[in-house]
Amino acid sequence: MKIAVLPGDGIGTEIVAEAIRVLDALDLNFEMETALVGGAAYEAHGHPLPEATLKLAKEADAVLFGAVGDWKYDKLDRPLRPEQAILGLRKNLGLFANFRPAICYEQLVDASSLKPELISGLDILIIRELTGDIYFGQPRGRRTAVDGHFPGAEEAFDTMRYSRPEVERIARVAFEAARKRSKRVTSVDKANVLETFQFWKDIVTEVHKDYPDVELDHMYVDNAAMQLVKAPKKFDVIVTGNMFGDILSDEAAMLTGSIGMLPSASLNSSNQGLYEPSHGSAPDIAGKGVANPLATILSAAMMLRFSLNQAEAADRIESAVKHVLASGLRTGDIWSEGTKRVGTREMGDAVVAAITKKTITG
Ligand code: IPM
Ligand code: MG
Repeated sequence: MKIAVLPGDGIGTEIVAEAIRVLDALDLNFEMETALVGGAAYEAHGHPLPEATLKLAKEADAVLFGAVGDWKYDKLDRPLRPEQAILGLRKNLGLFANFRPAICYEQLVDASSLKPELISGLDILIIRELTGDIYFGQPRGRRTAVDGHFPGAEEAFDTMRYSRPEVERIARVAFEAARKRSKRVTSVDKANVLETFQFWKDIVTEVHKDYPDVELDHMYVDNAAMQLVKAPKKFDVIVTGNMFGDILSDEAAMLTGSIGMLPSASLNSSNQGLYEPSHGSAPDIAGKGVANPLATILSAAMMLRFSLNQAEAADRIESAVKHVLASGLRTGDIWSEGTKRVGTREMGDAVVAAITKKTITG
């Protein structure tokens, strides 16, 4: 089993280091190879996604990814910006299905800004389409860009676009996932305004005919944003496009207390996957050793389950995380009165210790 490790920028290197220690603690004989990506790759090779990095990712069974980006690259031409690395990986590996589960750990009920009764027991799954939509439509103005901006331009546009097969396959992923859960799918669109999302809605409705055992409802994205904070537990699986999924998954993350807790899996049609925390590179706290590594550690668990066929090892990581939270350790983002504040490394240590102890006691 080969894992391509791409830590990236900012807190990416710190949190991925902890996830690797956790993987090592499982004693499963993975082959891991690390490569530069994002701003780090731009510094070293002049491109955020060098050929060698892409090759490594393509050849691996799974990719463990940290985060990319830093404000200092805001002046680069868009194709050279760190974010293009993750977009390029998603596109080149065909990672169209993005799973972002928002689970509220009982121990973190108080870390959320919402009332405990609204989020206690929360377990929703956002399925975001990841290789289409306005993210990959034709942008205008690249040729005339100066330092990544368009001085004096009179207009700018990006095009929102979906094809039938793109919507069909993500709809199927959502219905299949719902079958393993509470059998409810909410398709989020903006069909009242956008052609692309009327099309989306029609196709999801068509595909639904093959899944009569799953309940489907449709919701406009503005309403979905509101319902997520009003009554989040009403949702089971949410399926939506790339742009809306980007926004709603950040919102859903905060229901769980912190975006530092939210893992993600991005899969292609052969179950090859890229695993990354849903949060970004957080340059403001990079290098300080305070970032929460749990989203990345939980992403590693998803990697074991989805791409490496190691469900039991994934369970071990997830129970170790629960154990550590129950013991009261918290990084700054999830800290609350009465708990113990720890740094990135100590949090990683604690998860490793919980895993190792489990091995000894069988
Ligand atoms: C995410 C991020 C990315 C996105 C950025 C870094 C390109 O926000 O994974 O949610 O917009 O998809
Ligand atoms: Mg995002």
